[in-house]
Amino acid sequence: MPDFPWDSLATAAATARAHPGGIVDLSVGTPVDPTPEVVAEALRAASDAPGYPQTWGTPELRTAVAAWFARRRGVPGLDPDGVLPTVGSKELVAWLPTLLGLGPGDLVAHPRIAYPTYDVGARLAGARPVVVDSVDDLERAAAEGPVRLLWLNSPSNPTGRVLDVAEMAALVTAARSHGAVVASDECYAELSWAGAAEPSPVPSVLDPRVSGGDLDGLLAVYSLSKQSNLAGYRAAFAAGDPVLVRELLQVRKHAGMIVPAPVQAALTAALADDAHVSAQRERYRSRRAVLLEALGRAGFRIDDSAAGLYLWATRDEASAESVAWFAERGVLVAPGSFYGPAGARHVRMALTATDERVAAAAARW
Ligand SMILES: Cc1ncc(COP(=O)(O)O)c(C=O)c1O
Repeated sequence: MPDFPWDSLATAAATARAHPGGIVDLSVGTPVDPTPEVVAEALRAASDAPGYPQTWGTPELRTAVAAWFARRRGVPGLDPDGVLPTVGSKELVAWLPTLLGLGPGDLVAHPRIAYPTYDVGARLAGARPVVVDSVDDLERAAAEGPVRLLWLNSPSNPTGRVLDVAEMAALVTAARSHGAVVASDECYAELSWAGAAEPSPVPSVLDPRVSGGDLDGLLAVYSLSKQSNLAGYRAAFAAGDPVLVRELLQVRKHAGMIVPAPVQAALTAALADDAHVSAQRERYRSRRAVLLEALGRAGFRIDDSAAGLYLWATRDEASAESVAWFAERGVLVAPGSFYGPAGARHVRMALTATDERVAAAAARW
């Protein structure tokens, strides 16, 4: 396994903590606003849970997921049998190659600048991670060996780039031609800064314009950690091809990978309530505006960042230099190099700090 990247931020963190105004930690995308009351209440109401929960999720949860896809993601008619709750989505990202039975000789493709767990998941299975951002990349990888799984991540962590319908559809078609499963990690889909268009302007891999109306080999991976301030609940799910979901379900039943019953109830309630999601989106929108203005003043350029919880910023210097510049001003950010060598001249700044801390950071630049 690679070293856990955040451990290497200890020096910058110590510098930032020594600032007289206190640290502003923008290095991790961990929500700081309260868990919505409607969700906490559902958790409390389900707290008497003496029996084992269903690995597949309650019928209510699976129906709520299907209704959410129809309402928010432009995916009508999703079969609730093709839904599977997960213990947060990081575990699924890390274990999907293993759950699919991949191993030595198999290739797992993921974006060039990416959340590190796609690579970790390939390694856990003994498979080989390869970088794929385009159909050409996929064809090159497929010439080296069997690409069995293609990860998409839109909106991207860390860049905030959004794949449009045509880009996604082309990747799906190419992956299918090689028999690869396409898993699309979409956990920032509700945080689009393009406007409040409904349904989401961020297409899902299950959107019929992408899938062609056939979910064969497709899996959307979604988490409520970010949109609903539920990272502490570990509340997420995968949805898509019912045949694939059943295969994953069988292994997860054997392995005891079960979402606790009160969390299933909380997840169901959260998916039925859009109001808390828009309130949270507006909080992030105003923090983002404050940071954007201050970063501009400090000479940073923002690349991509059309959606999601991060600003992908550069001053055309090594990311370690930018990290040190921010740390001297009491602000901790993540170097882009955590997300691959192609990120080595950017830093990633999360919007997950209180209004007070965000204002404090902006005032120091
Ligand atoms: C792209 C991406 N996928 C998955 C996750 C995991 O989220 P969780 O395990 O909280 O559902 C994160 C968290 O930061 C992420 O950025």
